[in-house]
Amino acid sequence: MLGFIALALVMASCCSKNETPNTVTMNTTMEDLLTRRSIRSYTDEMPPMEVIEEICKAGTYAPTGMNKQSPIIIAVTNREVRDRLSRLNASVFGKDNDMDPFYGAPVVLVVLADRNTSFTWMEDGSLVMGNLLNAAHAKGLGSCWIHRAKEVFEMEEGKAILAELGIEGDYVGIGNCILGYVKGDYPEARPRKENYVYWIK
Ligand SMILES: Cc1cc2nc3c(=O)[nH]c(=O)nc-3n(C[C@H](O)[C@H](O)[C@H](O)COP(=O)(O)O)c2cc1C
Repeated sequence: MLGFIALALVMASCCSKNETPNTVTMNTTMEDLLTRRSIRSYTDEMPPMEVIEEICKAGTYAPTGMNKQSPIIIAVTNREVRDRLSRLNASVFGKDNDMDPFYGAPVVLVVLADRNTSFTWMEDGSLVMGNLLNAAHAKGLGSCWIHRAKEVFEMEEGKAILAELGIEGDYVGIGNCILGYVKGDYPEARPRKENYVYWIK
């Protein structure tokens, strides 16, 4: 009985007349989608492993064509490997060792997709990336899609990383989701272009 009263009180405090617990969740999701920004400055602090795991889990729940689950995520918290990936990434656009395309972020979640598993491997991988970016924001971390994963995992050194992990298959790099705590000001969204949405009512 006491438990029931406590539950009723919690429900009454969090939900107005037209808000079910479900709409409360929906509103938070909408807010997260609208306020996520690409972060390009990070502190050195390593986020807790449970948080990184939860973000990866959100990635694995992205929809995939025919549920083939063609992507994989390589979650890198190891500094040496993170730096290796950064160096390889910079080399794709001809930058030297001083340039860190990961903006100092301590964590990199590399998404690759097996092009032999599904016709929709690129779309599948991109949706995983989207889930990771949004989940990171929902968990209070900054994130950014860093490109050139394709080129990095075409290199011998990139292929060696996959081989070291025992990953076999025709994997193509989709993107790097960098993660960490935001350093400095939180960026504002740029205005949306006109005519982004066309209606047929
Ligand atoms: C496919 C893709 C590749 C991107 N590659 C990079 C990148 O290599 N480096 C970077 O700083 N940002 C990269 N971004 C982030 C975009 O620049 C960013 O999403 C865009 O400027 C809009 O900003 P917002 O994410 O804060 O809304 C990439 C985003 C996408 C979707």
